[in-house]
Amino acid sequence: MSSLDTIRESWATRAGFILAAVGSAVGLGNIWRFPFQVGQEGGSAFLLMYLFFILLIGLPAMLVEFTVGRRTNRNAVGALRKIGGRAWQYVGGLFILIGFIILSYYSVIGGWVLRYFGGSFTGGYTADSEAYFFEIATGFDALLFHAIFMALTVGIVALGIKQGIELAVKLMVPSVIVIMVGLAIYAVTLPGGTEGYTYYLSPDFDVLASEWRSIVPAAAGQAFFTLSLGMGVMITYASYLSKDRNLAEDSGVIIGFDTGIAILTGLIVFPLLFAAGIGAADPGPGAIFVALAGAFAEIQYGLVLGVLFFGMFAVAALSSAISLLEVVVSYAVDEYGMNRPVATGIIGGGIFLLGVPVALISDGGNPIVIDLYDILAAEILLVIGGILVMVLVAWFNADLARDELSKGIGRLGALGSLWIWLVRVPVIAVLLISLGLAFLGYYEFLSDEFIPFVSG
Ligand code: TRP
Repeated sequence: MSSLDTIRESWATRAGFILAAVGSAVGLGNIWRFPFQVGQEGGSAFLLMYLFFILLIGLPAMLVEFTVGRRTNRNAVGALRKIGGRAWQYVGGLFILIGFIILSYYSVIGGWVLRYFGGSFTGGYTADSEAYFFEIATGFDALLFHAIFMALTVGIVALGIKQGIELAVKLMVPSVIVIMVGLAIYAVTLPGGTEGYTYYLSPDFDVLASEWRSIVPAAAGQAFFTLSLGMGVMITYASYLSKDRNLAEDSGVIIGFDTGIAILTGLIVFPLLFAAGIGAADPGPGAIFVALAGAFAEIQYGLVLGVLFFGMFAVAALSSAISLLEVVVSYAVDEYGMNRPVATGIIGGGIFLLGVPVALISDGGNPIVIDLYDILAAEILLVIGGILVMVLVAWFNADLARDELSKGIGRLGALGSLWIWLVRVPVIAVLLISLGLAFLGYYEFLSDEFIPFVSG
């Protein structure tokens, strides 16, 4: 009880909140997951569907999480309990589970980034970029760097995150943009990259028509993942807001940054992959690493660029990992009165263990457990989390949500109702369809790939 009576912290500045939310959103989802999904799901067809989902679902869903957080000023579990009653705390419990699963493989990939960052200093990664990736993706090294990444995340969250996050993103956002724009310009100059642009940018409706069953859930999952929606991150961050912010405007800025960086990543990766003769046909989780390490090996000052790029990439991954861990830690601290550093250490240790199979098990070099965790979390669990929160808000607490959104904006008029009705019917319907398709796809993955692999 007492924790509710004490004055709760809030963001110092408008920039603090926006930067923290951007820091959470921009991460491996943009630079690692996005190009790999594009490659797996038919290139431009996926891009189109993804952009559609960002606008149709991402924006309204972010507003839903923001209003819940600012209204309640609670951690994600407490916030749902306050709005929906006791039963809804189990949805909060689902958020905690999702946090465990996502961070466990996120940290393994973050470990690859650290490894490539180190490799940039020595040039070790450059000889044969595809072979190098398979060498480090699983095995002892992967485990070691997973441990290092997790230790860094735990270290920052244990110290309390305000300064950590704010500082990290102030460095990160400008350097991401400068480095990415530079690389995209470099990519334009490459001979042989043209096909990459065609693949990425010219909408192919035939592919969309024939592959929509896997493109729809993949694009919806990516929209949730990249915007950090569906597990209470944005509820938690908005719970530190004062009342006078224009949440719609802030969402626009956050989504604009996140989407811009993802699109830019594609403009780098696909020309590079095609120029290197690798192509984009299912490049898998190694796409970004293979494409860039190959390029950095060849161009002038490539290793310096490598240091900058992978350094920036590591910061972006860490500022997202922090938000994943913070949802779980703030719950343990708020609801069980645990000591923050102790809670962070224990939870971080548990997440590390869950990531061990990801780092160690390989299917001929391919880190197959990533798919097992990633499809489950992004396409299924985040979507379930998102749907449940939207039902709670749009169907059972619409007046409260409209009232909360109007603070800092003024009269919403018809737009407020449009938002609620958009969420109530089309958004939830599309997500339910997507969820059904995701279950089918996951079943297929399990029966065609994972189970045969496990049973040898
Ligand atoms: N959005 C981050 C990225 O793109 C990852 C992330 C952070 C996340 N917090 C999340 C994903 C919460 C889903 C839910 O890398």
